[in-house]
Amino acid sequence: MKPPDRLSRQEILKYLGTHPWAGTLQVLDTVDSTNALAKKLASQGAPEGTVLVANHQTAGRGRLGRSFLSEAGQGIYMSVILRPQEKATELLHLTCCAAEAACEALERGTGKRPGIKWTNDLVHEGRKLAGILTELSFEGESGKARYAVLGIGLNCHQSPCGFPEELREVAASVRMMTGSVPDRNRLAAELIQSFHGLSLTLGKRLQWLERYRRDCVTIGRAVTVTGSGAVRRGQAVGVDDWGALLVDFGRGPEPVQAGEVSIRGMFGYI
Ligand code: BTN
Repeated sequence: MKPPDRLSRQEILKYLGTHPWAGTLQVLDTVDSTNALAKKLASQGAPEGTVLVANHQTAGRGRLGRSFLSEAGQGIYMSVILRPQEKATELLHLTCCAAEAACEALERGTGKRPGIKWTNDLVHEGRKLAGILTELSFEGESGKARYAVLGIGLNCHQSPCGFPEELREVAASVRMMTGSVPDRNRLAAELIQSFHGLSLTLGKRLQWLERYRRDCVTIGRAVTVTGSGAVRRGQAVGVDDWGALLVDFGRGPEPVQAGEVSIRGMFGYI
């Protein structure tokens, strides 16, 4: 399908105006991965607020070494470079904050607020609308962060049958959420505004997590946690003050920081 809108720097800037990150915004037609390019630029000294937006990725990456389908003209594939002052151990909440910031951007841009499947997926009616990949580089000796890259892939224009067969039951798009074809330039601008807001308020961790908990659809659900070879079933009861999922496996809440968490009845998982 021919994209009904064209992502362009000029159009995004119409929505951003004189934004502090306007000067470092790059819009690319095709790239392997905006996160990979952002990491390369960050390691070469690119400043905080360098934003890469692509119309198409040939090697979009997801969490846990997975790929992220990034078809031309169908979504927004964006990465932002941040230069946090904190140590890596003080940034455990960054992925949750990025998901919450994206959720708020989508509400402003579409009037609909998606949910968040812990930690990093935006969901609409149990289907994945967007994925977030946060990558961090830090100094081994001091533990201080060198840079963070926040990457988001947002499905925009797909109709239910526009996804490949294997994703049809589990993926959603902004078009499916709102019932109309979105303007990707407007949504890209909203995401940039939200990530900029996040860069200024990262220290307000508890406030971010309070809002995150309200949007997190995992809390209160039966979950399956996999990782380190074991499969454990429990009840998600909360998210702690650093963004770990609190799961009750039968002996009270335990923090789960990494690994795969499946929610019964969501994304086709049972
Ligand atoms: C996930 O679903 O596990 C995370 C997906 C993150 C995809 C985005 S698209 C823009 C940026 N560049 C990438 O290669 N990945 C992220």
